[in-house]
Formats: sequence, C-alpha cells, structure tokens
Amino acid sequence: MEMDSATPIPSDKEFQLFQQLIQDKLGIFLPAQKKALLSNRLWKRLQACQVKGFGDYYRLIQSPQGKGELNIALELITTNETYFFREQKHFDYLQEEILPKLRPGTNFRVWSAASSTGEEPYSIAMVLRDRCPSEWELLCSDVNRTVVEQAKIGIYPDVRVKNIPPEYLRRFCRKGVGPQQGNVRVTAELRDAVQFFTLNLHEDFPDIGKFDLVFLRNVLIYFENDNKSKILERIADKLNPGGILFVGHSESLHGISTRFTPVKPAIYRLAGR
Ligand SMILES: C[S@@+](CC[C@H](N)C(=O)[O-])C[C@H]1O[C@@H](n2cnc3c(N)ncnc32)[C@H](O)[C@@H]1O
Repeated sequence: MEMDSATPIPSDKEFQLFQQLIQDKLGIFLPAQKKALLSNRLWKRLQACQVKGFGDYYRLIQSPQGKGELNIALELITTNETYFFREQKHFDYLQEEILPKLRPGTNFRVWSAASSTGEEPYSIAMVLRDRCPSEWELLCSDVNRTVVEQAKIGIYPDVRVKNIPPEYLRRFCRKGVGPQQGNVRVTAELRDAVQFFTLNLHEDFPDIGKFDLVFLRNVLIYFENDNKSKILERIADKLNPGGILFVGHSESLHGISTRFTPVKPAIYRLAGR
C-alpha cells in the first residue's frame, strides 16, 4: 500500500510501545523494519479516532474506554493471507497416508489452528467429506474475530476459488446470483460440518479435547523462538499419541521443539513418550 505524504510515522519510541503491546497480546514479534507496516495498517484508525499521532493512539487503546479500539488495532496487525488448497502436499499426505489407515466407527479429530478466512478449513472439510472412512470433527480457530466471522459465512470471490479441484467446486460450492454474482458460497452442508471459534495461540488453550491432526500453517513465522516453543508445547499437549502436525513449508521446528519427530518437510508426528 502506498502511503501519502500526510501518513504519520511512529517515532522509534512509539514503535517500541506498539511492538511490546503486540507481543504481550498476540505473541507476534514485529521487527524494527516493520515500522511502515504498522503505519500502513493503523493510520486510518488514527483518522477515525481523530487522534494526532501514534503516541495519542497508543494512549487511547491502553485506556479503559479504548478496549474496543484495541481489538480493532490488533486485528489490523494480523496478516490473514490464505487460499484454498494452499501447500497441496499436505492435502496429498492427508489423502494418501492418513485417511486410508482410518477405520469406520472411529472418530478422526482435526484442528485448523490459524484458520484465517476459512479457505484452509473448507479445503480440509472437502477432502474429509470426500475421502474420510470414519466419523470426523473439524474445529477451526483464529485470534482475529473478523476473519472467523467471514469464515463462517463462507463466501468468496470467483478468483479465489480457482485452486479448488473442479469436482469439489461442483459438489461443495454454489455460484452466487443477483447481488452475489461473481461470488461463490461453500454449501451449508460443509459450513455446518466445521466448528468455528476464536482462540489466541499465545494464551492457554480452552478445553477443546485432543486431536489426531493439527494444521498450524504460516503462523509460527510471526513469533520469536521462545513463543514458538510455548505454542508448540501447548499444541503437543492437544495431540493424541501418534498425532500429526502440519506447519507451513517455510517453517521448521528444528531447534524449537523436542516434542515432535519430522516425517516429511513441514510434517511432524508427536514424539512417543
Ligand atoms: C498468514 S495466515 C495463515 C492462514 C492459514 N493457516 C494458511 O496457511 O493459509 C495467519 C493467521 O494466523 C492468525 N494469527 C496470528 N496470531 C495469532 C495468534 N496469536 N493466535 C491465533 N491466530 C493467530 C492470523 O489472524 C492469521 O489469520
């Protein structure tokens, strides 16, 4: 995004205040070179709140009456880029290695733990609906309430569904008409099969049971090693014995967690105890 000449830039001291706040609330580490990102994402809120600079905006979101605004600011800081069937190798592994070993009468539990606007969990749901021989449950969560609400609605512009295999597109998606022309909606059958909720990976997890497979993809990159380790510890505690963890292909657990054994690039198994 281009910044116009009037866009306020935080001073180093102001940036450090935001850096600390974001780290405390979300666990996300914003390095110094992300000053422009902070400015790009928040300057419209400074205008909306009619405050002059980042110092005043910081004081506002730290005040008791600024709680709602704090949530808005934190949501704007998260990066929600995602798409259907991202990193196809994970879906291949699910179809070829995991699902064929399941037996009818068992319950396969999956968690998409940074699910953004829903493309990831709906891709998983399509595969499970098509190929899973057992019962299954799919939970999906994100810290950003707005993207969770978007995910629940399950409406996407045509251009965003091009990665969905044609057969799944026919079976699980409906073309919009009238005001929804140019959009596609995931069927109610699929939407109802997914449980959506907000969850902050940086805090203790609620009681959501144990899982056989967790998608934790393209989110660890935003954390420093110490916070990565803590998140992985909590994720490990939520996996059943032999449970599988998928991380993004640019992410590695090497030197960060001893709770997992590598299986393939970006695929880990809970280490046996
Ligand atoms: C780049 S998206 C990745 C989406 C999806 N997993 C994928 O790979 O396409 C990262 C997501 O992580 C979420 N996120 C960031 N910090 C988080 C936290 N502390 N707890 C839970 N989710 C978080 C963001 O809101 C965002 O939707």
